[in-house]
Amino acid sequence: MSMKYRLLGRTGLLVSELCLGTMTFGGEGFWQVIGMQGQDLVNDIVARSLDAGINFIDTANIYSFGLSEELLGKALAGRPRDKVVIATKARGRMNEDVNAVGLSRYHIMNSVEDSLRRLNTDHIDLYQIHGYDPVTPLDETLRALDDLVRQGKVRYIGASNMAAWQLMKALGISDKHGLARFESLQAYYTIAGRDLERELVPLVHDQQVGVMVWSPLAGGLLSGKFNRDGTSPDGSRRASFDFPPINKERAFDTVDVMREVASEVNATVAQVALAWLLHQPAVTTVIIGAKTVEQLDDNLKAVTVSLNADQLARLDTVSQLPNEYPQWMLARQGDGRLPEA
Ligand SMILES: NC(=O)c1ccc[n+]([C@@H]2O[C@H](COP(=O)([O-])OP(=O)(O)OC[C@H]3O[C@@H](n4cnc5c(N)ncnc54)[C@H](OP(=O)(O)O)[C@@H]3O)[C@@H](O)[C@H]2O)c1
Repeated sequence: MSMKYRLLGRTGLLVSELCLGTMTFGGEGFWQVIGMQGQDLVNDIVARSLDAGINFIDTANIYSFGLSEELLGKALAGRPRDKVVIATKARGRMNEDVNAVGLSRYHIMNSVEDSLRRLNTDHIDLYQIHGYDPVTPLDETLRALDDLVRQGKVRYIGASNMAAWQLMKALGISDKHGLARFESLQAYYTIAGRDLERELVPLVHDQQVGVMVWSPLAGGLLSGKFNRDGTSPDGSRRASFDFPPINKERAFDTVDVMREVASEVNATVAQVALAWLLHQPAVTTVIIGAKTVEQLDDNLKAVTVSLNADQLARLDTVSQLPNEYPQWMLARQGDGRLPEA
């Protein structure tokens, strides 16, 4: 296996091209898989991931209301802290208190202390906002995050699930006031859901923001185990929780081509889905999810899958977004502006 490492945005931090997702650690909610008593399985998943060269692990305070962070903290206990880049997030509601939600200075400062305690560490490498908070001014959020960086509790900050205008506004505020800026965007992006390419991919290229892809198998659908007629294996998350939303017809057409490509490169369909993402220039790291060791091992091997130009072109054609404004207008604006190479 040959894991590669990529710079996170414009920072000097190298992170593995696969990041371990921990939403399945815990026992609550739709992602319930590993269960309350799952420390042994969590330990195994973490150990196998680190052995495969992963140095980047993503969690969030909201995953099983802190249990994911706790299980991860225990799985990492006794390992050198400087071998793992730990990312977590805050924004979701943690309890019924009126202020236990959002991106106010109050909630951020409380949340970071709770995450540090649960992870059993004195710093978080990447602290991410888990979405936009329309109530709190971005200045307040960014000043609180900047204070955490200056205090050494947080090393870098990142954003998740933002519209392009929100992320650009935040980058502008950081620049104007000399505050820590969002170095990464954690976003949904798959071969079956390429919406990110409309506005956010051009933005992250222009601003040198790293991209961490979430739900890279579209919640399991891109593993190829679901049928066009709607039948699916028992117990699969996507069968009971149909998320993220996708254009099913286009997705199943895409899976058909992925199957052909998978047999050409001697890989699984899931590996082709992950490898396609790893071939996209905007992507820094792909956050893999797994509920079993077998799934994890399958996904880890995606780093060995190389797709040639013809395979990428076929995958691109079948999965393309409709050509909507402003894309067709922007393409015209490039006409004749650059000298011939
Ligand atoms: N920032 C955000 O808002 C956000 C949102 C979601 C996720 N995330 C992050 O992204 C990570 C990954 O998300 P995700 O779990 O939704 O990823 P995903 O890869 O889209 O879905 C993972 C699920 O697909 C199935 N699966 C995984 N590998 C498989 C394989 N090789 N073959 C067959 N089935 C397989 C498993 O469920 P079944 O066996 O039940 O089908 C597994 O739980 C999370 O852990 C979290 O860190 C972030």
